[in-house]
Amino acid sequence: MDITPPKKFPGRRGLVMREPVIFERSTPGRQGFSLGRDEFDGVPLNGLDSHLREDAPVLPEVSEPEAIRHFLRLSQWNYSIDTGIYPLGSCTMKFNPRINEEVARLPGWFFSHPLAPPEVMQGALELMWNLERYLAEISGFEAVTLQPAAGAHGELTALMMIRACLRERGQGQRKRVLIPDSAHGTNPASCTLNGYEAVELKTGPEGYVTAAAVAAAMDDTIAAIMMTNPNTLGVFEREIAEISRIVHERGGLVYCDGANMNSLMGMARPGDMGVDAMHFNLHKTFSTPHGGGGPGSGPVGVSHTLVPYLPGPRIEKDSSGRFLLNTDLPRSIGRVKAFLGQFGMFVRAYAYIRELGPDGLKLATQMAVLNANYVRAKLRPVWNLAWEAPSMHEAVFNDTHLKPTGCTTMDVAKRLIDYGFHPPTVYFPLIAPGALMIEPTETESKETLDLFVDAMNSISKEAFESPQLLKNAPHQSPVRRLDEARAARNPILTWQMEKAAR
Ligand SMILES: Cc1ncc(COP(=O)(O)O)c(C=O)c1O
Repeated sequence: MDITPPKKFPGRRGLVMREPVIFERSTPGRQGFSLGRDEFDGVPLNGLDSHLREDAPVLPEVSEPEAIRHFLRLSQWNYSIDTGIYPLGSCTMKFNPRINEEVARLPGWFFSHPLAPPEVMQGALELMWNLERYLAEISGFEAVTLQPAAGAHGELTALMMIRACLRERGQGQRKRVLIPDSAHGTNPASCTLNGYEAVELKTGPEGYVTAAAVAAAMDDTIAAIMMTNPNTLGVFEREIAEISRIVHERGGLVYCDGANMNSLMGMARPGDMGVDAMHFNLHKTFSTPHGGGGPGSGPVGVSHTLVPYLPGPRIEKDSSGRFLLNTDLPRSIGRVKAFLGQFGMFVRAYAYIRELGPDGLKLATQMAVLNANYVRAKLRPVWNLAWEAPSMHEAVFNDTHLKPTGCTTMDVAKRLIDYGFHPPTVYFPLIAPGALMIEPTETESKETLDLFVDAMNSISKEAFESPQLLKNAPHQSPVRRLDEARAARNPILTWQMEKAAR
């Protein structure tokens, strides 16, 4: 059976996959450095003698070229947004423009110290002050805090503000939060961390939550509703304004999960839809890098109602135009992050917003929605849409047409790796069984999208002709199909010499 995808796909070609992995290789006496013991003779130990190790460390003995090749090869095995499309729905893996990286590495930004007093960090404070205002303008909010370190942290911060506000109103008995069944898992998790109970709301037949469903669930135990707009089906919550009205009328507050701002920027503002608080994911919408556990950033925008509760200190400007840090905030929920947040991300997001400007941001949104709808239209003749409702920036398909073949969404995702593509988000949202959630973003070209669609359609054909090809995929990656359940339950996060040697 030929396991190689047709030539036109990027595939895993070009990767050097020599076995055994070079890290397991070691030749006694071989070394990759030229410093000998003599260089250290006579260096004063200043009382540290007792810390000197007696035995040589157990490390592979390799030459410098061997070490370099090992690490370079590992980097080549990695898939990244710089090597190809990363259509992970909900994650908005868009290209990170290099100009942002250049700017973030300017010495004045890069070396600024978080403990420096405001007098010597006026430029950094001005950048943050401006960024808060840009984000507020883009989303229609009164004010923004940049402190939270990620989207989930932004959700928690916003819920803490909502709790503080309701307590002040004498409404501390409101301890339940309405969350649609399509929501990201961080929504109920943030709720629980805040001491609230998550109450599930069913998505309506058209793929969005209806105002009638909210009206039926809303009582004086409900603190807030958490809406994601557009939701994780890629569908716009068209009754949001009416939902906000109902929730406010009955004493609650409205939170919006803003992870999907990539389809609203420049077109519509959640603040204008009655939302009281929303987090941004700078590492999605504003093109700062994410993934791999690196720093994220989840600023929160708030309506007039929640301004007094914003985390402190707040960056303010005095009458002479100097920036200062105000800590005199009696109603604030306090600090939620060390220092002022992930400064490097602020510089990147600021550069992105300044470079694109209002028209550019709007165009980015339009292109993101256009790309998603292009992929949707091209896949539709072969693949089954999870929901018929119009798509915004992502389209959700499923594996129902593959039922007779026995192949599943997981098999399709694994086979895509052989074709040289990162798989889309799979099995999420949970209300779409077998979901393949595709978010191409605005940064992919038509040629790339065509190639991705061709790969998907070719895999569908393979499923009917030789299902085993999918079941055993990937065939061409450095590691083959992993036992993901075991890997999650029993993670081995470092190379283990004893096990590798066996
Ligand atoms: C819809 C949605 N909400 C919230 C989050 C959480 O954001 P973060 O990963 O920055 O904590 C995500 C992340 O993927 C998301 O897709």
